Formats: sequence, structure tokens, C-alpha cells
Amino acid sequence: MDNRNPYTLEAAEANLAQLLATDLDDKQQYDTYTTDDMYTWSTVFSNLYHRAWPGRAHPEFLNGIDRLRLMYHVPKVSALSKRLKELVGCQLYFVEGHTDPTTYLLSIARNYFPVTVWLRKPVQIGYIEEPDMVHEVLGHAVMLSNKLYFEHHRRIARVFIDIMAEEPMHKVELLAEWIARFYWRTIEFGLTRNDSGQILVYGVGILSSAEETIRSVEEGAQHVYLPDDPHEACRMLIEEPYELDESGNYTGMGGMRTYYVVNGFHHFHTMVNALKSVVTEKLAQAEPVPAGE
Ligand SMILES: [Fe+2]
Repeated sequence: MDNRNPYTLEAAEANLAQLLATDLDDKQQYDTYTTDDMYTWSTVFSNLYHRAWPGRAHPEFLNGIDRLRLMYHVPKVSALSKRLKELVGCQLYFVEGHTDPTTYLLSIARNYFPVTVWLRKPVQIGYIEEPDMVHEVLGHAVMLSNKLYFEHHRRIARVFIDIMAEEPMHKVELLAEWIARFYWRTIEFGLTRNDSGQILVYGVGILSSAEETIRSVEEGAQHVYLPDDPHEACRMLIEEPYELDESGNYTGMGGMRTYYVVNGFHHFHTMVNALKSVVTEKLAQAEPVPAGE
């Protein structure tokens, strides 16, 4: 999710309608994948499935791999979309590159999720900067196949969509920033603890990278345990600015970062439920309309 250019709801509605009209099979052109593409997918899948995920990925993520019947061959996204619809009511649609935050969140609020069909090249097997189909499928789509997670994912989007219509643009920009930080530190790069205190990965930005999956739970990784009070935990996630790398850029996929740890999925769910009241309260305290707006 790119948080730099919040659209108006009307523009996002029009944008989404156009995107949903695109046929996934037309865009994926499955028969045009090369042997290099097939090699890339099976190598990435095998590395994640056999090396990175065992003992580190949350069991519900591994159940999702089975539920979506993901394997060593590049999946057909139209078939995946059909399967997700049967399981949780979510459908996939095609996008190229980053989506603006309002279109992205509006689509999630309406039970859709964007996927790209772009696949990394063999030289990029270990690391990519832009999310590709591996991230969208062996990350987002897998977690979205869990009904309860899907519902909470949708609720995060609803917080933004429900509030933005009522607020002036400078507050919508603030809101977009807070929702993006919350999303980044839970959905994309979140860790959780199980009952025995073992740290497991549920963030899909981590799970779609073998190296980061391994590194994120190792001793020496920077872990912040979120407070049990969901309001306090939400405030911590949305108030902390993004970490920047040595070049002053956002730490993208595969980057070094601080990981925020929830105390089980129930904790994450209570945080999502608290999100609306936390951001509403913060917006009310935010500066009024700046001069000139
Ligand atoms: Fe993502």
C-alpha cells in the first residue's frame, strides 16, 4: 500500500470499477510464463515451504497454503480467486504496481483484493524491492483464506473508508498515514506469540521472504512486545514514524526493521476492534484546517 497519494472516495470508486472490469485471465496470460518463470516459482516455493516456514510461520498460515492448494507451479490467479470466494467471499482483481491507498482500502472493504501477475526474475529469487506475485499469493492470499483474519483485515479498511468521507483532506492524509502504519506493522510485518511464548510470523511481507522469515524470529532481531491494552497497542503502532534505512528510504521488503509482537491472534483482533476509536480520538485532537485550505 502506497500512503503518499490519498485519493478522494469518488475517484477511488471510478478507479476500482475500471479495475474490476479487467479479466484476470486476459492479464495473466498463463501460457506466456517461461521455463525461467516456472523455475523461479518452484525455487521460491520450495525454499519457503521446506526451509523458512517450518517452525516459524503461524500454523494458520500453513493451513492456508493447504486450503488454497498452493504448490510448486505458478498458480492461475482466476482459479485462486474462485477458491477464495468459496472459502471467505473474497475475490482477486488485477493491478499493475502500487495502488493508491483509497482504492486499495475501498476494494478490501468491498471483499476484493488486488494482485499483480508480475513474477521476479531468477536473479531476484532471494530479494525484490517491489511486491510481486509471490508476495501477493504466498503472503496475502494465503492469510485471507482464514475467515476470521479476512474479517479483521476488512475492518481495518472499513475504518479508513468510513471516516474519510467525513473529514477534510489534510485529516484524510493523517488518517491514511496512521492506517498505513498499523497495516504495515501487523498485516505486513507482524509477529505473534503462541501460548508457550514462542514467536511466530503472521506478517505476509515477512512470510513471502525466506531470509526475512528466518531472521525475524532469530535471537538478536529487534522485537517490541505490544501492550495488552488494545488502545495503547494501537497508539504505539500508529504514532511511531517509519524506520528509514541508511539511505533515508523506507525499509522495504527484506529490510531490517523493528518487529511488533502481538500476544496471539485474539490480541490482534482486539486491536483492530479498537482502531476506529483510537484514530477518531486522535483526529479530533489534530490541528484544525490549516490556513489556505
Ligand atoms: Fe503487501
